[in-house]
Order: sequence, then C-alpha cells, then structure tokens
Amino acid sequence: MDKEESLLGLKKEIEENRELPLCGEANLVFGEGSADAEVMFIGEAPGFHEDKLARPFVGQAGKLLDKLLVKINWPRESVYITNIVKRRPPGNRDPLPSEIDAYKPYLERQIKIINPKIIATLGRYSMNYFLPEAKISRDHGVAQFTRGGYLILPLYHPAAALRATAVLKDLEIDFKKLPEILKNPPTKKENSTKKETASDTQESLF
Ligand code: URA
Repeated sequence: MDKEESLLGLKKEIEENRELPLCGEANLVFGEGSADAEVMFIGEAPGFHEDKLARPFVGQAGKLLDKLLVKINWPRESVYITNIVKRRPPGNRDPLPSEIDAYKPYLERQIKIINPKIIATLGRYSMNYFLPEAKISRDHGVAQFTRGGYLILPLYHPAAALRATAVLKDLEIDFKKLPEILKNPPTKKENSTKKETASDTQESLF
C-alpha cells in the first residue's frame, strides 16, 4: 500500500469511529498536502472555516500560513498540514485533554505514514503535545529532537501572530529557518549537548 492509500485508509477509520469526541458535532478535518512531505505543520484544532470546508488552516490564520510559505518558496501542496484534534471544538474553545488523547493514535499513525523530516508545531498546544515542558516564548524557533527522534520546530500559532506584531516578527524569523534546517538538520548529538533544553527535562511520549 502506498502512502496516499494508507492516509485514505486512516481517514476512513477516523470517520467510522463514532466514539471519537466531537463526532456528530463537527466535520472531520483530516489534513491535506503531500503524502511525501518533508515538513509537516501541526496546529491545534480546526476552527469555523476549517470545519465548513473540512480543510485545515483555511481561515485568517491559514492565509497567514500561506503567505509565510510563499515567502520561503514552498508551495502549500508540497508540505502536509493537519491538527492534533481533527474536529472543531464548539465555539472554538481549547481542545480538552481527553479530546487530544482520543485523536492521538490517529495522529501518530498519520505522522508515521508521512514520515516527515521536520514537524513544525503551530502554537503552544501542538508544541506541548511533543515537548510537554517546552515554553513557547523561550523555545520557539529552536529545533529540537524528542526522545522518540522526531525533529520539532516550535512555531507561534499564526492566529497569535495576527493579534500581536512582535509575535508576527518572531514567527516570520522562525519560519525562514525552515529551509536551512531541512538542508542541514541538527544531529541528535547536537541536541543532547545543548545546555538544558526543554526536551532534556521531560518525559516525552514521542
Ligand atoms: N487553527 C488551528 O490550530 N488549526 C486550524 O486548522 C485552523 C486554525
């Protein structure tokens, strides 16, 4: 089975699991992009527009993400974009830990199928999913490995960047690091010789 087929199969499994939280309340926003993407962007949960179109990052935050991709000459179709929770929580509230847990096995399989070189997390929720002890104000823009070997680049959420110019500046600076990190990824050794990073002090599930 190729990657596209595996992703389709996984999507079908989520659709058929009627016990998942938010099922019946919102559309499934599985994710989209290249199954061979080297970079996977992972946000928090779909919002209003994403729910309507069943596509990730298509509202205002998505428009900013698109602009940032254009600036580094990466077509949106060349990366993969998804969320940790795959249905919109009502009223755009933050996802509950139980919702994150319920969708976790599916996200893990989605990541395994795509097998990206970098996971760029968008916002605190997604970052803390991989790096539970990380702090976005301290750790954004610094690529680091999880214990499980995933290379994470924590980025501010584009929605946060739309609310504060200083955050937008940081997001632009961090985003521009992506091509270089992809070309010259840090080694796991470099990660472990770094002073004290968030991933050194945490029990990462990944
Ligand atoms: N915010 C997210 O975290 N994900 C989306 O898909 C849209 C907005």
